Amino acid sequence: MLILNAFLMTTGHHEASWRYPKTQPERAHDIRHYQELAQLAERAKLDAVFLADGPALRQDIRHRVHSAFEPITLLTAVAVATERIGLISTASTSYYEPYNLARLFSSLDHISGGRAGWNIVTTAGLAAAQNFGLDAIPAHQSRYQRAREFVDVVLKLWDSWEDDAIVNDTAAGIYADDSRIHEVGHVGPEFQVKGPLNAPRSPQGHPVLVQAGSSEDGRGFAATYAEAIFTAHQTLASAQEFYADIKQRVATLGRDPAHVKVLPGLSPFIGSTEEGARALEREFNELTVPAYGLRQLKGLTGVDLSAHPLDGPVPADAFGDVESVEGAQSRFVLVLDIIDREKPTIRQLLHRLAGGRGHWVFAGTPEQVADHIERWFTQGAADGFNIMPPYLPGGLADFTEQVVPLLQRRGLFRTEYAGTTLRDHYGLPRPSSRYAESPARTA
Ligand SMILES: Cc1cc2nc3c(=O)[nH]c(=O)nc-3n(C[C@H](O)[C@H](O)[C@H](O)COP(=O)(O)O)c2cc1C
Repeated sequence: MLILNAFLMTTGHHEASWRYPKTQPERAHDIRHYQELAQLAERAKLDAVFLADGPALRQDIRHRVHSAFEPITLLTAVAVATERIGLISTASTSYYEPYNLARLFSSLDHISGGRAGWNIVTTAGLAAAQNFGLDAIPAHQSRYQRAREFVDVVLKLWDSWEDDAIVNDTAAGIYADDSRIHEVGHVGPEFQVKGPLNAPRSPQGHPVLVQAGSSEDGRGFAATYAEAIFTAHQTLASAQEFYADIKQRVATLGRDPAHVKVLPGLSPFIGSTEEGARALEREFNELTVPAYGLRQLKGLTGVDLSAHPLDGPVPADAFGDVESVEGAQSRFVLVLDIIDREKPTIRQLLHRLAGGRGHWVFAGTPEQVADHIERWFTQGAADGFNIMPPYLPGGLADFTEQVVPLLQRRGLFRTEYAGTTLRDHYGLPRPSSRYAESPARTA
């Protein structure tokens, strides 16, 4: 079955969504807004809601609703307003300590009854680095090296309690069998952590591990740790190449490729006719502010085109080599690919990125959106999608009310939740603790 997440963002993924009359920018800091969006996604039986994050006020707040709640805190409030939908939060391995983050996600998994997922990012932006005592972005490779050790420590901490450590024997006065609670004793280049975690093993064994980097370092990291991979692709061919490469790398490492889900982003503009959908997309693009788009392009690629005429061609020679990029390498490559293939003016390029920052933006009828999803799913390009509504709540309602029923009728998507945890929804096994004498239980 297809996997479908709702990638939530204040007023929607299109950078001008907050100016569109049907959105509610005044509710960007109202928890009920996010609870209602998650309930809408849960009614359609979607797998999870996902929140991106960066520990900095990113880009240009002047022209867009960019401030947001810390996502684990937000999703905890969503957990008590929902029952089945998965809750995936982003958190950075560059700007957290493993012990603190292990506690936060373990708590979310307990509080939600086993619905937590962690989108592991190394945070590519300078603004975040400057909030943690740095003057420059840590090098791309070293960010991933730290991330590997970080995740190793977190996994040890999540394993530090065996499933049946709590005995609760009030008669004997024994609450926990401490022979089943283990120090992790991690000593490594970046971290030294004694452990154990101060919380019992969570309902899923541990939260689902998600990752979102597509560079060589990113792919290596994903193949080692990820159970789901978020990615951005502009063509079926590039998505198929990524999909095949990841599945191969996973198999080479002795992992089961079926237990690593590849989920590209898709931002659908839905209309009763194709022309209607395209007109809606144009309406959003006409609401954009070029100063914002230019700044976003600089954030994605490091290249500032503000001195060039907007309706002139993109000076392709302005973009250096990917190796020189310490930020988001795969996004840099993706933007270069658009420039190469479409030869856009600067304004056209900004419009191409306005809807999804490089993710696939598709305008069409519900049938055409369902066809697109079915094509990528059946042709080895995706195990599912991160649906990125261009505007909220309307864009998510359009998708859940008009596209999901088509996918259900085609037998591609569930009509009822079969399980209660995110692992159940994704079809992933429940890991046992590495410290357990004999694996307590596997799914
Ligand atoms: C769907 C998706 C969601 C992402 N969410 C975040 C995020 O919340 N915070 C963040 O810092 N980076 C986020 N990223 C960026 C990645 O973490 C990573 O920096 C980027 O994909 C480049 O990785 P690479 O240099 O390995 O290619 C996201 C990427 C994708 C595809």
